[in-house]
Amino acid sequence: MAEQSAEFVVVANRLPVDLEKLPDGTQRWKRSPGGLVTALEPMLRSREGAWVGWPGLADAEAEPFVEDGLTLHPVMLTSKDVEDYYEGFSNGTLWPLYHDVVAPPAFHRHWWQAYVRVNKRFAEAVAEVAAPNATVWIQDYQLQLLPAELRVLRPDLRIGFFLHIPFPPTELYQQLPWRKEIVEGLLGADLVGFHTPGGVRNFRWLATRFTDAKPGARNEVSYDGRTVKLGAFPISIDSAQLDELSRTPEVQQRAKEIRNDLGNPERVILGVDRLDYTKGIDVRLRAFEELLQEDRAGDTVMIQLATPSRERVEHYQTMRAGIEQSVGRINGTFARVGHPVLHYLHQALPRDELAAFFVAADVMLVTPLRDGMNLVAKEYVACRSDLGGVLVLSEFAGAAIELKESVLVNPHDTDGVKNALHQALTMPAAESRKRMKSLRRQVLSNDVDRWARSFLDALGLPS
Ligand code: ADP
Ligand code: G6P
Repeated sequence: MAEQSAEFVVVANRLPVDLEKLPDGTQRWKRSPGGLVTALEPMLRSREGAWVGWPGLADAEAEPFVEDGLTLHPVMLTSKDVEDYYEGFSNGTLWPLYHDVVAPPAFHRHWWQAYVRVNKRFAEAVAEVAAPNATVWIQDYQLQLLPAELRVLRPDLRIGFFLHIPFPPTELYQQLPWRKEIVEGLLGADLVGFHTPGGVRNFRWLATRFTDAKPGARNEVSYDGRTVKLGAFPISIDSAQLDELSRTPEVQQRAKEIRNDLGNPERVILGVDRLDYTKGIDVRLRAFEELLQEDRAGDTVMIQLATPSRERVEHYQTMRAGIEQSVGRINGTFARVGHPVLHYLHQALPRDELAAFFVAADVMLVTPLRDGMNLVAKEYVACRSDLGGVLVLSEFAGAAIELKESVLVNPHDTDGVKNALHQALTMPAAESRKRMKSLRRQVLSNDVDRWARSFLDALGLPS
């Protein structure tokens, strides 16, 4: 691709595909984990844009390439960058800080320096790819300095930024030694988007408190002679595509097989997450274990699917060990030979297989302690054209604002989660169908394309 020729560029820490080294030394590309890729990939493919990001492997130098109409521009990270910028500042400082410090964030100056260094590298990469006056849409907490860095190199660009994780309460944010620099970094954008109005409010307050930004009209600040717009844009999924996939005879048949393989229990409970300590997997295991102890679970089997994630970061290792211990304890106590009560798969599954699990599950348990949105909750709803199934959803997920007909729970309240799980397992069909109907109306009409269009309209991109 010629230099400076892309009219629409998405930038994220990761490319939508990851480079994987196989044991025989060869390499292959596979889908990257997480909700950001789930949401953006279909949107960008339909716009034939360019995507700038890291291929997910340290020291991997890859040339730009075209995949299914999408031009991918790999940015190289050294092993040191991965350690200090990705595992360190992004996932050891910002991730826990922005998720209500559910695990303690660590503040290290050499992590910060790596964050600055890598954000500058991304700015140089984007500056080389974007056409004159192009639109650049920057994604997520790993790249919060990029809007300002890019504006210095390329003042002609229209720059949007969207944060896929929660923006924290101001009291927590203020712990960050580099709070001013990050707010200034974001103010380099023309539009800064969050999932919720709360995120907008928190950022607006901090911008006027820690920088020279002045409050403007509602949801605007003026900064450095420019107007920076702020807005809430709750992200979603490609609902119609998932709805269609879940209706196929193959997926329906596979769902039956899954239930059959489980021994055709009366009820199946499902959890699907990246293996992350914010997701409250321990919370739901505890609730299920207590229901079993109290003999209130009935003939029920639970499945927990967990994508491996950030495996070298300490909090993740501790959490994984704790969960695997709980799984062993629960099965050790309640399983019979050939009939575990809890199935735990530490694996990423293909989309059609995942859809079959959603179709097979009577109760979907989504219990994060804090989550920007949580796309899994929306995916479950999109897969239930039969109006079957009950969604139990944490009040602390962004999705709870929209999915009001789910059974809402406070994940810090074990009794509350346990009782909600029991309520879901025993809910009369008429009530669960009514709830699912209303949830589906929400999810099918507010899809990811609508989300992207509303953000890009606000950014002023002609559609
Ligand atoms: P996050 O972005 O924090 O990972 P989300 O719930 O928003 O959380 O998005 C997670 C995405 O990853 C969803 O699209 C979900 O389907 C996918 N996913 C989670 N676990 C698995 C798994 N075990 N196999 C395949 N996909 C998974
Ligand atoms: C969340 C974040 C994304 C991230 C994804 C997977 O969705 O918001 O920015 O890419 O998790 O995490 P990872 O660290 O593997 O990229």
